[in-house]
Parts: sequence; C-alpha cells; structure tokens
Amino acid sequence: MAYRWKNTLTAQDVTPQAAYLNRRHIMAGLAGAGLAGLGAGAASAQDAALEPNSWEDITQYNNFYEFGTGKGDPAREAHRLTTKPWTVKIDGMVDNPGDYDFADIMSQMTVEERIYRFRCVEAWSMVIPWNGFELADLLALAGVQSEAKYVAFETLVRPEEMIGQRFRALDWPYVEGLRLDEAMHPLTIMATGIYGKDIPNQNGAPMRLVVPWKYGFKSIKSIVRITLTDQEPPTSWNKANAREYGFYSNVNPNVSHPRWSQASERVVGGGLFARRQETLMFNGYEEEVASLYEGMNLAEFY
Ligand code: MTE
Repeated sequence: MAYRWKNTLTAQDVTPQAAYLNRRHIMAGLAGAGLAGLGAGAASAQDAALEPNSWEDITQYNNFYEFGTGKGDPAREAHRLTTKPWTVKIDGMVDNPGDYDFADIMSQMTVEERIYRFRCVEAWSMVIPWNGFELADLLALAGVQSEAKYVAFETLVRPEEMIGQRFRALDWPYVEGLRLDEAMHPLTIMATGIYGKDIPNQNGAPMRLVVPWKYGFKSIKSIVRITLTDQEPPTSWNKANAREYGFYSNVNPNVSHPRWSQASERVVGGGLFARRQETLMFNGYEEEVASLYEGMNLAEFY
C-alpha cells in the first residue's frame, strides 16, 4: 500500500495543539478512572512523554477503504457521509437488544480524553488524543449475557455516500471482532472525538473502536452494529488474506508480517525527516494487557 509525503505542519495547528498539550499535563495521560490499579502509574508516566500528532496528520492520512484506498481519499471523499441520525444495532447475546440512537448513547456515556499510540500494520504510527467512552460501559447498557464470548462489529454499507464501496476492495461491510475480555478491557474505547472536536468522518464518525495494543485495522470505523456471540467472528482483513492477518493482531515487534518486519515503525509527521522508532510489545501497553494472552503462543495466534 503506497503512501504520499506531505508537509504536515500549518500555523492553524499551533494554537489548539499548544492549548491541548497544557491540558494534557493536567490529565496526566490515561485519565480513565477505570485504569486505577491496572498499572496505570506506569502507563501515565510513559504517556506523559507522548507528543500527539497534529490535527492535520491525524485527519488527512487515513485508511478507510469505504472512501478509497489512497491515504488522502478519506479526507477528500468522506464529507458525503451523513452521520445524523445514526443508529447502532446491538444484538445477539444481550438482555436489551435493539436499535440504539447514537445521541441517546452519548447522553448516557462519560466521555474522556485518552492519548494513545496508534500503530498500523503497514508499519507507520501516530499518537492520537482521542475523546471517547469505554466500550465496557456501552456493553453494560446492552446487558451482556453469560454465554457471550466475543463481540462482533460492523461498519455502515451505503455506496451512495461511501464511494469506495462501489468497488470490491474488501468484502463489505467491513467487519471486526474482539474476544469479550479484550472488549471489556478499560483501554478499549469507542472514540467519538479527536482533540476535543467531534471525530471527523474520515476517522470513523460518529463512533469508531480504538484498541490501542492491536494493529490499527482492528479499530473499525463508523459502527452500525455490535453483536455479542459465542463464536469467533469473521474479520475483514482475515477474510481478505488469512495468512497475513489473524484474528488477534496484537502489535508484536517479534512477529513479522509475511512481507515486512514489524520491529520498527515510521512516525507519521515531519515530512521527509520522518523518523523511525522501535515498535513496542503490545504497542507499549504490555503491562496492562499481557495477562489477557497468558499461555498463548503469540506467533500462532497472530
Ligand atoms: N474501518 C473501516 N470501516 N474501514 C477501513 O478501511 N481501516 C483500518 C481501521 N478501521 C478501516 C477501518 C485501518 S487499516 C487503520 S490503520 C485504521 O482504521 C486507520 O484509522 P485512522 O484513519 O483514523 O488513522
């Protein structure tokens, strides 16, 4: 997948970003109350050093194949998507199945800021200041039944507005899935904003998953359906190429993609002088999530 270089800094970015960085010191990185007792001390210390990418980096260099396969296509094409009203169907093994209005969901959720590393399987990375709520809180609204073991997610299909869906780049709808314990983990959020603004269409408006210790393709955008199930759900990139993309897709510098190493990553931003850095196990969230995979061979469950 090819990408283009571009100069990412503009004067417009300076003020909001500077204001944001000040606030960040107060928020001390992962501000989620739910993280207390989960090694959040270490995570905060680590995250205090994270400098978020610019608004422009985050909103103009995207993967959202429903709007085309080029990195600039989503920013150019996603304005056609209408996101109001927006309904999310929650079904399967839940006590309260139904069509949930996005505005109603928002009125019941606590939105927090979370500054997370974001690592694409294509070996580029950013740091993104998301706003969102914990997926566990949304699942609590639906009432997860005891037989449920996985959560399946689905993106909207609307080729009139999502022009990439007129081509079969992937088998639409885009689908993803998590094991229930991964979905319930306090680091797993539904992002609804970036830098304190509503999340732009190209980043997955009005609501997209963010699982910071997994490759970016797990973080499915513009979600219209969430299904609780006892079967491991199919996932889009696994369907497209099972040898290259597994169900787990945890960031792991020691397990290469069949066509490239995952040991390092290009940091988006900085134009021609973009630097590379070493990729961290579980994208830097090892302390928080390694226990989820105890006893599993991570080369086998990639
Ligand atoms: N979700 C949908 N519905 N369609 C997509 O093409 N691309 C994935 C993921 N979620 C994708 C998606 C990939 S490959 C990545 S790296 C991230 O979104 C990119 O998120 P970003 O554009 O907000 O950085």
